[in-house]
Amino acid sequence: MDTAIDDRKRMQSNQQGWNRRAVAHLDSTYYDLDSFRAGKSSLRSLELGVVGDVSGKDFLHLQCHIGLNAISWARRGANVTAVDFADEALKIGGELAKGLNTDINFVHANVFDLPEVLEGSFDIVYTDYGVLHLLPDLSAWAKVVAHFLKPGGVFHVVEIHPILAAIEEVGNGELRVRPEAIPSGPLEDEVTATYGDGYDDVQHIDPYKQYSWLWSIPTVMNALIEAGLRIETFTEVPVDCRQRFSNMVRDENDEGLWRMPGDPIPLSWTCSARKPE
Ligand SMILES: C[S@@+](CC[C@H](N)C(=O)[O-])C[C@H]1O[C@@H](n2cnc3c(N)ncnc32)[C@H](O)[C@@H]1O
Repeated sequence: MDTAIDDRKRMQSNQQGWNRRAVAHLDSTYYDLDSFRAGKSSLRSLELGVVGDVSGKDFLHLQCHIGLNAISWARRGANVTAVDFADEALKIGGELAKGLNTDINFVHANVFDLPEVLEGSFDIVYTDYGVLHLLPDLSAWAKVVAHFLKPGGVFHVVEIHPILAAIEEVGNGELRVRPEAIPSGPLEDEVTATYGDGYDDVQHIDPYKQYSWLWSIPTVMNALIEAGLRIETFTEVPVDCRQRFSNMVRDENDEGLWRMPGDPIPLSWTCSARKPE
């Protein structure tokens, strides 16, 4: 069995699914396009704190989906190139950017093929929330990240914590650790709905098979190190980008973030890694 060919097929199925999700996200409580079109930034305090000043920086956003964060970074002064393999997502991103008079270079590509279709290098490479589990090969991904960084440039990732895969809600906010070990992947799931901001905000979509890989944080770190990057910061934080469990409450300082009462576990993690000069 040729794993690479199989993974290509798996990614094709994911691509089809993310096109469906993109169209559903036109009417999403998570993306809230009315507020976005009216000028509200989609960036949360978490990624703003991690990435810092982007003004005048050449900025590559990987797996940008419908482009809200890419556009928001551009509105903070970055020269943004934003990549995704879901053409419907990029179409929506293009229309949103145009409506806000924001210039973004949207590139339609699989991240693994990007060095073949995009030239140039960047001060910042960035990716966020719900991306790494869709990638079958983190070593190859980390090489793509390193390839596009200028010497001295920084990669930032803000990601959902993998511990969440091991926890499920059994009712009324009560959580339990799943009794079975979860295989690292590829996992195959029939997806029939997409996420919203609140726990009950699900939007139904035509079913597709999603393939995913449960990468541990050390696996991500080692892939970045082996690609030649130097880890500068790593954090685990008790905030989540959406209300994943019914007992989560909005962060009192940032309406875009949710937390669990008492902050018992990390819900997201961040890392910044630099390409040496
Ligand atoms: C969960 S969404 C990202 C959401 C984004 N963080 C946000 O807040 O809007 C994941 C995105 O990754 C894209 N994607 C998945 N695998 C990809 C790949 N191999 N190459 C390029 N894009 C990919 C999907 O099309 C989708 O738009």
